[in-house]
Amino acid sequence: MIDVHIYRYHPERDRTPGMQVFSVPDDFRERMVLDVLEHLHDQDSTLVYRRSCREGVCGSDGMNINGKNRLACITPVAEVLDGNRLTIRPLPGMPVIRDLVVDQSLFFQQYERIRPWLINDEPAPAIERLQTPEDRARLDGLYECILCGCCTSQCPSWWWNPEKYIGPAGLLQAWRFIVDSRDQASAERLAALDDPFSVFRCRSIGNCSWVCPKGLNPMGAIGHIRRELMQRGS
Ligand code: FES
Repeated sequence: MIDVHIYRYHPERDRTPGMQVFSVPDDFRERMVLDVLEHLHDQDSTLVYRRSCREGVCGSDGMNINGKNRLACITPVAEVLDGNRLTIRPLPGMPVIRDLVVDQSLFFQQYERIRPWLINDEPAPAIERLQTPEDRARLDGLYECILCGCCTSQCPSWWWNPEKYIGPAGLLQAWRFIVDSRDQASAERLAALDDPFSVFRCRSIGNCSWVCPKGLNPMGAIGHIRRELMQRGS
C-alpha cells in the first residue's frame, strides 16, 4: 500500500489545518498523482482540489507533492514516491481556501500588472501581423507558460513581498512581450518595471526554473530584464 498524507483544512469546520493519512493500493505506482486524488475523492467527497484538463495544459492542479510544486496530472507516482509515502500539500505562499485549493488572486493581479497583451497602435493588417522566423523563435520558451503558479509559489522572494515583487511567472510573461517584434511598448514596459521591487527583488534562488512543469526558465527571463534595466540606467 502507498501512504498518502494530504493537507486538510476546511475553514468553516476546522480550527487548524492538519494532515490526513489515506492508503491506496500499490497499483497506483503506475498512475499519476491526480489519479490517486480522484480515487480518494471517490471515497471521501469532502476532499477538495482543482483540476480540469488532466493533460498538463490548463494549469489548475498545481500543488506541492513531496516537497516540490508540480502538476498532479502529469506527475507519475513512481517518480516522486518517498519510500511508500506521498505527501500532498497546497501551493505554498498562497492563502488556503480549502484543502489543496489556494487563493491565486495576488498571483493574477501581478500577472495583470505586466499588461499581458500586444500593444501596437498601428492599424491591424487585413490578415495578421507578420514576424520573421527569427523574431518568432524569440518567443520560444516564453509563450508556453500555462500560469499554473508552481514557480511563483515556490519562490521565497514572492513569499516575502507578494504585493510588490511580480514573481517569476509574471516576469517570464513580461519578457515575452518585451521581445515580441509586434509589440511597440517595450521601452514603456521596461520603465514600469524599473523600481527596487518589481524585478530586482529576485535573488536568483532559481526555484522557479527548478519546478516549472513545462521546463521553462523564468530565472533566465528575469536575468534578461535585469540586464536591460541596468543598461538603460548606465
Ligand atoms: Fe490541467 Fe493538470 S488538470 S494541468
